[in-house]
Amino acid sequence: MATVVRKIGLSLGADICWPICYEEILKRLDLGVPSGTDTLRFETERVTIEPFDLRQPCQYDLVIDRLTHWYHTSREWIKKSVVMDGLYVFNNPWAVQAMEKHTSYCAMMRLGFPIPDTWMVPPKEYEPKPDLDVTLSRYAQLFDLGKIGADVGYPMFMKPYDGGGWAGVSRIDDEEALRSAYDKSGRHLMHLQRAVDPHDLFVRCIGLGPQVHFVNYDPARALHDRYTMDLDFLGEGERSLLRDMTLTINSFFGWDFNSCEALRQGGTWHPIDFANACPDSQVTSLHYHFPWLVKANLRWSLFCAATRRPMRVNQDWQPFFDVAETDLPFREKLRQYAAIAEKRFDTAKFEKFCDKHLAGLDEAAWEFFGTDLARDAVRQKVSALFPAHEVEEFTGMFWARIQGWREDNSPRAAAAAVRRKP
Ligand SMILES: Nc1ncnc2c1ncn2[C@@H]1O[C@H](COP(=O)(O)OP(=O)(O)O)[C@@H](O)[C@H]1O
Ligand SMILES: [Mg+2]
Repeated sequence: MATVVRKIGLSLGADICWPICYEEILKRLDLGVPSGTDTLRFETERVTIEPFDLRQPCQYDLVIDRLTHWYHTSREWIKKSVVMDGLYVFNNPWAVQAMEKHTSYCAMMRLGFPIPDTWMVPPKEYEPKPDLDVTLSRYAQLFDLGKIGADVGYPMFMKPYDGGGWAGVSRIDDEEALRSAYDKSGRHLMHLQRAVDPHDLFVRCIGLGPQVHFVNYDPARALHDRYTMDLDFLGEGERSLLRDMTLTINSFFGWDFNSCEALRQGGTWHPIDFANACPDSQVTSLHYHFPWLVKANLRWSLFCAATRRPMRVNQDWQPFFDVAETDLPFREKLRQYAAIAEKRFDTAKFEKFCDKHLAGLDEAAWEFFGTDLARDAVRQKVSALFPAHEVEEFTGMFWARIQGWREDNSPRAAAAAVRRKP
């Protein structure tokens, strides 16, 4: 019986809190997963940035990456490692690079999702290029922005076609505001999107492999309060619908880790932003929900590394389009898209793996999130973001929320819930 090490690389930028928790809980789990005649053990390492020979082998079985969307050297090293060394990475770098918000809207419109009406308008200004003037003078049609505004309808949102982090997003209530926002949009290529207004619920669906977690999100609140701690805001049918939507999106694009923002109006869920392939993972935003994320990340990465799950490099869209072309009602189509997604994410095999090999994770995480080390991880993140005089106050606040999570999820409470089940 040989011991085989599976190595998990963490490719990080500004992340502080979740990697500390991830590494420490993994250490405490002290896993030895039987595989044939071998025993699998797991190590983590922080991936460093350095020059690389394209032919140099990759030492990792799996990389959890947080840089691809903006840091090119890491992205290109990951691409080389997937192509040449069979690396598995969260998230597929080609899907992150090519599938911006715009492509995600188009694809989900084709699948019949109720995406609000959305237009693209050519940019207001251009970077000078040799062929620019001749191209525009020959082919660019003059257009009436007011007419497009009337077609989309007010209120609307103007936002970059590939945006993220609320950069360049503005709410527009009338034609005058539209003209002024467009004049200020510079070189950004913009969408105009009909607002889902009013809406009575805004949910962030965080997907990690086949695991989906729902947060009632309130964008009007201060940053540290936007992820509310509400628990019972969705009915069973809505949870199942939003799970199906999230997994469809994530498997369609090949994203292991992504979040889908959806707004509810008149009982219909409208996804508005779901190309978020580096979702917020910081305790300073997630607080109460942070332990869920760390555990979900551990589960999915350990499953992928242990089973040597092959990376799905090319998206195969036809099976989704075949369903889209049927005459079925949307909910039934969505069920069929989700069935493809669950298969691609190996949900059944994943759940079996967790039951068999990660049965101790809940308790290990529950204990860890009561330790000084966990509190220090929170404090380190708070220190990086808040002014010095607020560090103690906010560390205390986020820590209290995590302790609230521990109260709601204590092993004793879980055992009592099982006993209560008929
Ligand atoms: N169609 C819409 N209807 C209502 N609110 C919207 C809409 N589009 C954007 N918003 C608001 O603007 C915010 C930022 O827009 P979003 O599309 O999420 O861009 P980003 O990728 O920058 O997060 C959203 O969280 C939401 O509050
Ligand atoms: Mg958003």
